[in-house]
Amino acid sequence: MIILIFFLLSILFITFLITRYKRVKHRPPLPPGPKPLPYIGSLITMLRNRPTFRWIHRMMDEMNTKIICIRVGNVHVIAVSDAKIACEFLKDKDEIFSSRPESMSSYLTSKGYLDAALVTTAGDYWKQLRRILATKILSESRLKWLKNKRDAEADHLIRYIYKQCDTKGVMNVRSIAKQYTGNVIKNMAFGSRYIGKGNADGGLGEEDIEHSNSLAVIPLHVFAFCATDYFPWLRWRTDFDGHERIIRNALGIIRKYQDPLIDERIQRWKDGVRTEENDLLDVYINLRNPRLTSDQIKAQMLDLMLASFDNTSNCVEWAIAEMIKEPKIFEKAVHELDLVVGKDRLVQESDLVHLNYIKACLREAFRLHPVSPFNLPHVSSVDTVVAGYFIPKGSHLLVSRRGLGRDPEIWDDPLKFNPDRHINGDNEVVLTDNNLHLLSFGTGRRGCPGVVLGSTITVMLMARLVQGFTWELPPNEPHVDLNENVRNLWKAKPLLALVKPRLPQHLYTTST
Ligand code: HEM
Repeated sequence: MIILIFFLLSILFITFLITRYKRVKHRPPLPPGPKPLPYIGSLITMLRNRPTFRWIHRMMDEMNTKIICIRVGNVHVIAVSDAKIACEFLKDKDEIFSSRPESMSSYLTSKGYLDAALVTTAGDYWKQLRRILATKILSESRLKWLKNKRDAEADHLIRYIYKQCDTKGVMNVRSIAKQYTGNVIKNMAFGSRYIGKGNADGGLGEEDIEHSNSLAVIPLHVFAFCATDYFPWLRWRTDFDGHERIIRNALGIIRKYQDPLIDERIQRWKDGVRTEENDLLDVYINLRNPRLTSDQIKAQMLDLMLASFDNTSNCVEWAIAEMIKEPKIFEKAVHELDLVVGKDRLVQESDLVHLNYIKACLREAFRLHPVSPFNLPHVSSVDTVVAGYFIPKGSHLLVSRRGLGRDPEIWDDPLKFNPDRHINGDNEVVLTDNNLHLLSFGTGRRGCPGVVLGSTITVMLMARLVQGFTWELPPNEPHVDLNENVRNLWKAKPLLALVKPRLPQHLYTTST
């Protein structure tokens, strides 16, 4: 009897091996990539070649490939820098790639995957959040409802810079851009420009500076190739590369400011003290189908802050830097504003659609200087084949924003800042690109739901800066330094510029 059972089991085992062998043999190959070591894969090389994103791009160049597979632990990390292949992943096979990987940083940031951007499974909860974003938070009517808040911040921007011209002259463009984007989203989300007390000169007070600095830390550490994301058991022993401490500190500061405001507001609605909706926090609190818990509301509010924050400021800072370097481009942008808007009134949201050259400058900055090297990662839910390569279930997909935007097969002279390449007769220039020749807002199910708001804030900021002031190098700086930070894609040094008003004085002082 025992011999018979042994015999049957052996046959079953051999059949299993043969089927598996046949399946593997007839399977297409994995994308090219470094040969992984057993169990740890390329972990050691990855740790020795920080920052990882530069190492991945270098390897793709050396191997002359636009799709690469790097195994870390048992995860296949697939990086892509080709528009057609990226479309195959994010459009044709969108359904398979619409989840996000788990990671320590995204888990902590989203309070356990409670937000829309980081929630891992693209299931019912994520669908509900996306529906809320589309119909209640970022819909056309909602954005119209919040227009007065955006207008107030666009006017405040002009007044603030004007006052600073008197006292300083030389200004930090990055600080101005971050302050504006932060003010707009705080006003729309929390109903106030300041989370803290603010500063008498109209700038940020120490609380808002601390809040804003902490927001800036998060995107640099979410999905930043943290070793424990590939070997979760390492988290039991140590914060292996220090990311957890950094993320926890930053989140602690952000929550110290945001969460009491949210709790207090929920209580005011409960007590019947607040009865009229005035901002997005009120809208989230009053949702009924489904009603969100306080933790879920806190996760959505942080999502709004993070989503709006860095793309706009990074893009505008780079655009202005490139334009100061090429004064002819700057002149063309100024000329467009003078032609479309004139010098007797400030540019308004209704003008933005007509500012094709300004938008071309921004599109060019998104192409050449995306804020992050890769799109937010996606993860595959089943085995599949893309571009003739086998992509195993659970692979992490990283579409290279940098690689797409600098692909010489798509863009002539790709390193040159040339906004004219986006002008096509009278066709309206937009900041999105559905063909992924550049990746600004992404595409597909997990593509950005904030395209209209994000584009409006970005174009408005740029248009007000260019219309309202002249921007030149400070007297002691002979040329524009266009070097990138080694550890990320921000400009290595914040852009400093000598700023002077160029419109009649009353426009700066009488704006709403
Ligand atoms: C210039 C401004 C912006 C840019 C360039 C931008 C870009 C992006 C990109 C590249 C993604 C990832 C797409 C993907 O995974 O394939 C994304 C996702 C997202 N964005 Fe934006 N965004 C901007 C502004 C905003 C704003 C203003 C909001 C809302 C207030 C927003 C909300 C979101 C959300 C919630 C997601 C996650 C979507 C999901 O995972 O389902 N974004 N954005």
